Amino acid sequence: MLTPETRIFVAGHRGMVGSAVCRALAARGCRNLITRTRRELDLMDPSAVDAFFAAEKPEVVIHCAARVGGIHANRTYPVEFMRENIGVSFSVIDAAHKHGTQRLLYLGSSCIYPREAPQPLREASLLTSPLEPTNEAYALAKITALKYCQYLRNQYGVLFHSAMPTNLYGPGDNYHPENSHVIPGLLRRFHEAKTAGAETVILWGTGTVRREFLHVDDLAAGILALIGAENPPDIVNIGSGKDLTIRALADIVADVVGFKGEILQNPEMPDGTPRKCLDISRIRSLGWTPTISLEEGLRQTYADFVNISPTSATPATVQTGPGQSRARG
Ligand SMILES: NC(=O)c1ccc[n+]([C@@H]2O[C@H](COP(=O)([O-])OP(=O)(O)OC[C@H]3O[C@@H](n4cnc5c(N)ncnc54)[C@H](OP(=O)(O)O)[C@@H]3O)[C@@H](O)[C@H]2O)c1
Repeated sequence: MLTPETRIFVAGHRGMVGSAVCRALAARGCRNLITRTRRELDLMDPSAVDAFFAAEKPEVVIHCAARVGGIHANRTYPVEFMRENIGVSFSVIDAAHKHGTQRLLYLGSSCIYPREAPQPLREASLLTSPLEPTNEAYALAKITALKYCQYLRNQYGVLFHSAMPTNLYGPGDNYHPENSHVIPGLLRRFHEAKTAGAETVILWGTGTVRREFLHVDDLAAGILALIGAENPPDIVNIGSGKDLTIRALADIVADVVGFKGEILQNPEMPDGTPRKCLDISRIRSLGWTPTISLEEGLRQTYADFVNISPTSATPATVQTGPGQSRARG
């Protein structure tokens, strides 16, 4: 159970998830939050991570550090996605175990489930059939780390367990034109098209694949519910439990942004997994439920995007050629 004095290390605290977790912990009155930037502590460096744990001795670790990206980035850089995600996971998990951390929550992803697993995706579907090829390297790295947590828990009795978030969005997202996930990618494209007065936006893929989205503040609340649970399952999904087509999502984003032009699809571009929606009965049974509707969350996120990314409105960056919307990896 968390108290205001618990020493908590949030790895990756400057990322979208890590910063939401820090906001949620601060709102809970946690006074002993430990954070390090990548420059202060490279989590790919096991000896530096070991020395950090020896000195700080965190009681709880929430592991939000990772290399993250959409389909394009996952397909282009599988080596980096595998190497870095295994690297940052094992350095932190091993040091936590060695230096007496009582509890560690590892952040996996819904990408760990097989491409053809029955929907909605249940935790029991893990490792039952082949993965989606476009993000296999990332998924294998995540599976390796979550199984490692499970083995440590079974073999040594430490409470190391994992959460599997669905596609996330919210403040602090990555709006990179090529490496972003679907929602920040769409927000950026529609914003740029509106600013440039473009008449059309062309989206990647057929638009018919279905995805689920969760606001990152809802995820942070789910993470705290899991950290507070006495005997949580090894793997727990966290999602909204509702999915929609990418085209329906694009229509909502266009409305939120105020883009009045036409939305076209480029079906030549890859779609990714046909449907991805999580079964969230496990996390619901711990008393958590999502509270932020997609439309409300998108309006809030767009306001954040406009505030923090004034340069993204520069007309010179507008692309009205082949669409860049992509389902996340
Ligand atoms: N975003 C999603 O839709 C989504 C969905 C499902 C699961 N997840 C999982 O949730 C977790 C957090 O994702 P996110 O969206 O918050 O990602 P993010 O915004 O890219 O944040 C990742 C953080 O990890 C840090 N990091 C990466 N490598 C590091 C290293 N070698 N040393 C120190 N810090 C390092 C990054 O530091 P810098 O700031 O220096 O780069 C960044 O702060 C990940 O495990 C991800 O797989 C995310």
